[in-house]
Amino acid sequence: MYEKILKKYPPDQENLIYILHEIQDSNPQNFVPEEAITVVSEYLKISAAHIHGVLTFYSMFSTAPRGRNVIRLCESPPCFLKGSEKILRKLRDLLQVKIGETTKDGIFTLELCACLGVCGNAPVMMINEDIYADLTEEKVEKIIAEIKGRA
Ligand code: FES
Repeated sequence: MYEKILKKYPPDQENLIYILHEIQDSNPQNFVPEEAITVVSEYLKISAAHIHGVLTFYSMFSTAPRGRNVIRLCESPPCFLKGSEKILRKLRDLLQVKIGETTKDGIFTLELCACLGVCGNAPVMMINEDIYADLTEEKVEKIIAEIKGRA
């Protein structure tokens, strides 16, 4: 199952992050499962504990099932001062989930994160790789509807 991904990379430890990314992206539940960690550990000859360490260090990785779109709302002070609390309430209402949960249809997971580096345009959230800034409740409603429409 993971051979197709592994074949693309020589068994060098420096390829670990790329391999983990591809495994996560190819999983409809958007996470790196335990069996993948074992396979990668054997392929790159690094311990499973080391891979676990990498997976927990980088917030973009998950070892538990998530929605196809991971929303990360910035909770750092500049965003908070510009109303991220209101945005969080809106997201929770729209998605009917708490922080860390995935919607029943598997489309969204809601997470919080630290500064995304765009504080000048607070409040800010990231959905997968895309940044959404200067958020308002109306803007959030539109963004969510748009992604749902594509799902
Ligand atoms: S504090 Fe939210 S982007 Fe920097």
